[in-house]
Amino acid sequence: MLVETMTPKSTVHMVVFFLQLCIVKGQIICERQIIAEWRVEPKHVVMEWTLRKNICTDFYSECWNVNTNSTREDKNLSVPQICPVQLQLGDSLFISSDPSFQSYGMNLLNVSKEEFINCPKTGFLQEQQIFVCQIRGLHQVDPTWLGVGTHYFVELHKRGPHLCNMGLRLNVTVKQQFCQETPNAPLCSKHGRCLSHVWEKQYSCHCFSQYSGKFCQKFNVCSTKPCHNNASCTEKSEGTGKSYECTCPPEFSGKNCTEIVGQCQPHTCFNGNCSNVTPNTFLCECDKGFTGKTKHFSWSIIMM
Ligand SMILES: *[C@@H]1O[C@H](CO)[C@@H](O)[C@H](O)[C@H]1NC(C)=O
Ligand SMILES: *[C@@H]1O[C@H](CO)[C@@H](O)[C@H](O)[C@H]1NC(C)=O
Ligand SMILES: *[C@@H]1O[C@H](CO)[C@@H](O)[C@H](O)[C@H]1NC(C)=O
Ligand SMILES: *[C@@H]1O[C@H](CO)[C@@H](O)[C@H](O)[C@H]1NC(C)=O
Ligand SMILES: *[C@@H]1O[C@H](CO)[C@@H](O)[C@H](O)[C@H]1NC(C)=O
Ligand SMILES: *[C@@H]1O[C@H](CO)[C@@H](O)[C@H](O)[C@H]1NC(C)=O
Ligand SMILES: *[C@@H]1O[C@H](CO)[C@@H](O)[C@H](O)[C@H]1NC(C)=O
Repeated sequence: MLVETMTPKSTVHMVVFFLQLCIVKGQIICERQIIAEWRVEPKHVVMEWTLRKNICTDFYSECWNVNTNSTREDKNLSVPQICPVQLQLGDSLFISSDPSFQSYGMNLLNVSKEEFINCPKTGFLQEQQIFVCQIRGLHQVDPTWLGVGTHYFVELHKRGPHLCNMGLRLNVTVKQQFCQETPNAPLCSKHGRCLSHVWEKQYSCHCFSQYSGKFCQKFNVCSTKPCHNNASCTEKSEGTGKSYECTCPPEFSGKNCTEIVGQCQPHTCFNGNCSNVTPNTFLCECDKGFTGKTKHFSWSIIMM
C-alpha cells in the first residue's frame, strides 16, 4: 500500500543533507541529569526518530554529557546514535518518525549490543521487529520490549538507505527501584531520596543523615549525639529499637556521660550548684548564662 516516492538520487541528497546538519563533534548534544530521582508517576517519553537532531557520537562527552578521560582509540566509544534514553520501569516510550522517512517504510529492530555497535549486516528475524507494521508518525513501543535492562533498537528501512550507521539507533535502559520495603510503603521511608546515577542499573535509597538501612528505615540514635564529654556511642537494638549506649571516659559516668566521677566539694561547681547523683558522681547545675562541667573544667566555661 505504500507508494515508492524516493528515487535513488533523492535518497542520496537526503543523506548528504543530514550529514551536513547533524555531525557536530565534541559538543554537549544530549542533555541529561547525572543523577535522577525516581518519579512517582510514570512518564510518556517521545523519541524523535530523526537525523536532524539529538544524534551524538562521542560516548562520554556527547551521549552522556560526562567528563572523563576517554581514550579515543576505543573504537566503540564512537557510535553515532540517538541520545541514549533511560526510563523508569512503567514509563511508556513513543517513537516519532521523521516525516521524510514515512514514504519508504520504516520499522525498528530489537538487536544485541554487538549488532547495535556494528549495525545489522545480515538479515533479521520476524520476532526482532518492534512494530507489527511499518510506522509513520507517532507509535508506542510495546512494554514487552521495555523490561528492566538495556535494550538496543536500530532502524530498518525496507526501501531506503540504511541509516543505522549514521545514527538511527537507540540505547534504551530501563531501571526499577528498590526503595520501598513493601509495595505501598513510602519511598525510602520518607527519610531519604530514591536516586540512580547514570551508570547505576537501578534506583536505591540515599538516606538523610540521621537514617540508615536499605530503605532508610533505621533511625541512628547516635547521630543525635546523646553521649557527652567525648564518650563513644553504640546503637543498641532492643524492643522498639531506638536505644544507645555511651562508653564514658574514666572521669565521667551516667547514661549520657554527663556526670562527673567524684563527690561534691565546696565550690566544685564554678557558677552553679553541685548535686550528688550517686555516691560516686555529681552534676553541676550551671547558673543561667554559664556552661561547662565544673571549675576543674573551667576552660570550657563560656560567658554569654
Ligand atoms: C585526566 O587525566 C589527566 C592527566 O592524565 C589528569 O591530570 C586528570 O586528573 C584526569 N581527569 C580525570 C577526571 O580523571
Ligand atoms: C567495546 O568492545 C569490546 C569488544 O570489542 C567489548 O568487550 C566491550 O564491552 C565494548 N564496550 C562498550 C562500552 O560497548
Ligand atoms: C531483544 O534482543 C536481545 C538481544 O538479542 C534479546 O536478548 C532479547 O530477548 C530481545 N527482547 C525481546 C523482548 O525479545
Ligand atoms: C547503553 O547505555 C547504558 C547506560 O544506560 C550504558 O551502560 C551502556 O554502555 C550503553 N551501551 C552502549 C553500547 O553504548
Ligand atoms: C540523656 O540524653 C537524652 C537526650 O539525648 C535525654 O533525653 C535523657 O534524659 C538524658 N539522660 C540522662 C540520664 O541525663
Ligand atoms: C576524644 O577521644 C579521641 C579518641 O577516643 C581522642 O583522640 C581525643 O583526644 C579526645 N578528645 C578530648 C577533648 O578528650
Ligand atoms: C542553686 O541553688 C539556689 C539555692 O537553692 C537556687 O536559688 C538556684 O536557682 C540554683 N541554681 C540552679 C542553676 O539550679
